[in-house]
Amino acid sequence: MNYDLILKGGKLIDPLGTGSVRADLGIRDGKIAALADEIGGSQGAEIYDAGGLYILPGLIDAHVHFRDPGLTYKEDFASGSAAAAYGGITLAADMPNTLPPTAGAAELREKARIAGEKSYTDFSLFALLSAGNIEEQEGLLREGALGFKVFLGSSVGNIAAPGAGPLLEQMKRAAALGVRIAFHAEDNELNEHFTRLCRGISGGDPALLSKARPAVSEAEAVARAIRFAEYSGAAIHICHVSARESLSLIREAKRRAVPVSAETCPHYLFLDASDYPRLGTRMKVYPPIREAEDREALWRGIADGTIDMIATDHAPHTAEEKDRPLWEALSGIAGVETSAPLMLSAVNRGLLSLNSYARLASLAPARIWGLYPRKGGFAIGGDADFTIVDMNRAGLIRGAELHSQHRTSPYEGFETSAAVAAVILRGRFIMKNGVLTGSAGYGHLVCPERPRDTPANLRGRSVL
Ligand code: DOR
Ligand code: ZN
Ligand code: ZN
Repeated sequence: MNYDLILKGGKLIDPLGTGSVRADLGIRDGKIAALADEIGGSQGAEIYDAGGLYILPGLIDAHVHFRDPGLTYKEDFASGSAAAAYGGITLAADMPNTLPPTAGAAELREKARIAGEKSYTDFSLFALLSAGNIEEQEGLLREGALGFKVFLGSSVGNIAAPGAGPLLEQMKRAAALGVRIAFHAEDNELNEHFTRLCRGISGGDPALLSKARPAVSEAEAVARAIRFAEYSGAAIHICHVSARESLSLIREAKRRAVPVSAETCPHYLFLDASDYPRLGTRMKVYPPIREAEDREALWRGIADGTIDMIATDHAPHTAEEKDRPLWEALSGIAGVETSAPLMLSAVNRGLLSLNSYARLASLAPARIWGLYPRKGGFAIGGDADFTIVDMNRAGLIRGAELHSQHRTSPYEGFETSAAVAAVILRGRFIMKNGVLTGSAGYGHLVCPERPRDTPANLRGRSVL
């Protein structure tokens, strides 16, 4: 059999297995065509020697803000996806708080067009659910939305949180359409109240950020999302879990078989409140980074399966926007390029296995967002997306060397003990040994498989 590319001698990491399996991979037409102990020479095939390296299914970052269209002075699909490729990511899912917000079919189509011209990686697009756009759900899905996103706490973009009534109505409709809803789970009223109190305290201590948007604000919103999921039947996903209180709620809900999934981000796993004096607004993000107890609880949540996935919430801003006084500085941390080196280094420190990491950063996002088995594993016939890692390559994080437009990293000076060696997307190297080898516009829009037709009883009507 002929292949275009053969990866020889790598150690494959099965996200659901333990340890690694030494095997060759044969790739043809961008798909995985063979997986065997040994694949013999095939005429014309490019051979990549993966000896000594581990091969993971391509990493999926299911939560990024690439700021395109409308805020491209911060980032755009080219810079964001290039940084993602350097970081080992083969698919990034973009959030809808752009300008205009991705709230209707036309906006989604336009964003897909822009990303299609600029993206180095594959991409998927979340669509906004707000109080005003219930009639847009079907059109958004027709255009290929990955899932829906609700901002319960307002954040960058000032998207108003839907009240309880419109939210429940939206969730019932989404349940009927079989679409999962991602939540930015913070309670607006609590945030506004305590932010007002904190702003009255002089001195601008950055540790006030987690008092201005307290853990109870996240827990309150998580509880509402879970209750409404139970009532409406909609599947939900809790983005960027930061507080131990939320973990208990999610753990309990999973026990009751509520269809809830959860993600956390590297900044909640590698930073805590003790870093505020050193990092100030560099680590300003919503929801805020909390106490060491929360960080430790999140690692336990990873170990016991309460946390399903790692996403970055890559939220770039300009240096000037980050360097403002505490309350004026914009919230958000760039993360697509540093996530894998940080998490792989955590593997080397024994905090999780490489298999668990492959599950958290590839299989789980693919499954939860409906892209599996095309993405997220080693299925024959699936896309040949791989992240090849060297678990013995030391590195040092330097903001100035990152490829996002946002280069002020809270991880400046962090030493890493493992690195991404190469990234393959649909059979082509998009990054090799620290050099971007892919091209802008190679990335595809990736849509979940779902039934094409809306049930007749739903067409054009709201769900009561
Ligand atoms: O800190 C944040 N920044 N939190 C969010 O939810 C949005 C994000 C952004 O878009 O900048
Ligand atoms: Zn958010
Ligand atoms: Zn976000």
